[in-house]
Amino acid sequence: MHNDVEEILYSAEDIAARIKELGQELTAEYQDKNPIVVGILKGSVLFMSDLVREMDVKLQLDFMDVSSYGSGVESSGHVKIIKDLDADVADRHVIIIEDIVDTGNTLAKIYDLFQHRNAASVKVVALLNKPERRVANVQVDYTGFEIPDKFVIGYGMDFDEDYRQLPYIGILKPSVYAHLLH
Ligand code: PRP
Ligand code: MN
Ligand code: MG
Repeated sequence: MHNDVEEILYSAEDIAARIKELGQELTAEYQDKNPIVVGILKGSVLFMSDLVREMDVKLQLDFMDVSSYGSGVESSGHVKIIKDLDADVADRHVIIIEDIVDTGNTLAKIYDLFQHRNAASVKVVALLNKPERRVANVQVDYTGFEIPDKFVIGYGMDFDEDYRQLPYIGILKPSVYAHLLH
């Protein structure tokens, strides 16, 4: 285990088992819908790459990068598009992939955008959901795990861009980010 990790919340095996289940549900739901699977950079990339390999349906991949500007551990609530999709989502079934939904601000913005672009349907798959922290009114259609309000890293999730490559999801030691709290 990495020295900055206080506790492992979900092991690589836990994550793989849950993704297999989600993949089966999504395979059933999207059988003839030819969905566009949209990964929100960068946190979602590890989850997305494992999830789509458990989806036995015709689909396409696309990516979007947004930033909630402001730094540190708190989301600012303002979301800006850094990279838009390549595909046109009009009349298409869209599956948004997130590693984590926290305040919901990121997701709310993207969801509204795809509705506005006349997607046939928009659904959200999040590996982690922190309902205690919700500010925006967003629906997560498929959740991997509901977690408490702890700072998590690994399996795509970062602190200051580090730790994304850890194969498990861990809780970051508060001493690592204590200097940012006031
Ligand atoms: C993180 C995470 C979600 C978002 C969730 O992304 O990957 O996209 O924050 O927070 P919210 O529900 O409060 O909006 P971040 O903006 O840190 O970018 P990253 O994916 O590149 O780490
Ligand atoms: Mn993200
Ligand atoms: Mg981040």
